[in-house]
Amino acid sequence: MCNDKKQILADLSHISFSYDSKLILQDISLSIQSGERIGIVGESGCGKSTFLKILSGLLPPSSGTVNILGDSIASDIRKHVSIVLQSAMLLPMTIYENITLGHDYSEDSVRNVLEQVSLLDWVDSLPEGIHTYLGDRADELSGGQAQRLAIARAMCKDAPLLLLDEPTASLDASTAASVMASLDACTESSKRNLTIVHVTHQVEYLKGYDRILRMEGGKLYV
Ligand SMILES: Nc1ncnc2c1ncn2[C@@H]1O[C@H](COP(=O)(O)OP(=O)(O)OP(=O)(O)O)[C@@H](O)[C@H]1O
Ligand SMILES: [Mg+2]
Repeated sequence: MCNDKKQILADLSHISFSYDSKLILQDISLSIQSGERIGIVGESGCGKSTFLKILSGLLPPSSGTVNILGDSIASDIRKHVSIVLQSAMLLPMTIYENITLGHDYSEDSVRNVLEQVSLLDWVDSLPEGIHTYLGDRADELSGGQAQRLAIARAMCKDAPLLLLDEPTASLDASTAASVMASLDACTESSKRNLTIVHVTHQVEYLKGYDRILRMEGGKLYV
């Protein structure tokens, strides 16, 4: 929900982007308020993932600027953003290391997010708990478990802006629904005024969002 002060969290100004000579995004400007939940829909290939990569500082725009909380250098922008992608990228490390990615988060905070994504019972059943090496087991994880770990990773970072790029698209319908429920539980219990930009083909996941934008022809429409 928007807060009353309407503080701007992110500001994109005249963003254009081309892959080689193919224009993907065309002069997009968008202000995102702190606490706002924005859905983005649009046909496959229209540029939604490209837009999220630019918003997260992973891809530099061909022209225009991204500013998040006063920062416009990519490495600083990335500190303010967590992202969950369509398929989880799990690394040959322990569960704890997969979630913390080198940050010094306490075991308690990791256990807390694992509980929020309904993985704690499973993790506690493993021989070495959160320090179980995932490289040995990555293939044994279901798609739903892998996505829950990816969500736990994003929530543990505790960044103010959460980007979701079709986080349940690779899951079957019932697993997708339960992973979405875990995600909703996480974002609702988030202590802070979490801002969300959620790309999806399923508008039912955007119920209660503040704005739903449609991407078409390289532009965003209300
Ligand atoms: N690395 C790349 N090099 C060249 N073209 C690319 C690259 N990545 C994406 N594209 C092209 O850019 C366009 C936008 O891709 P993008 O992945 O942003 O679309 P999308 O809206 O997220 O699609 P989907 O809904 O299928 O995920 C597509 O035409 C795609 O083929
Ligand atoms: Mg995409």
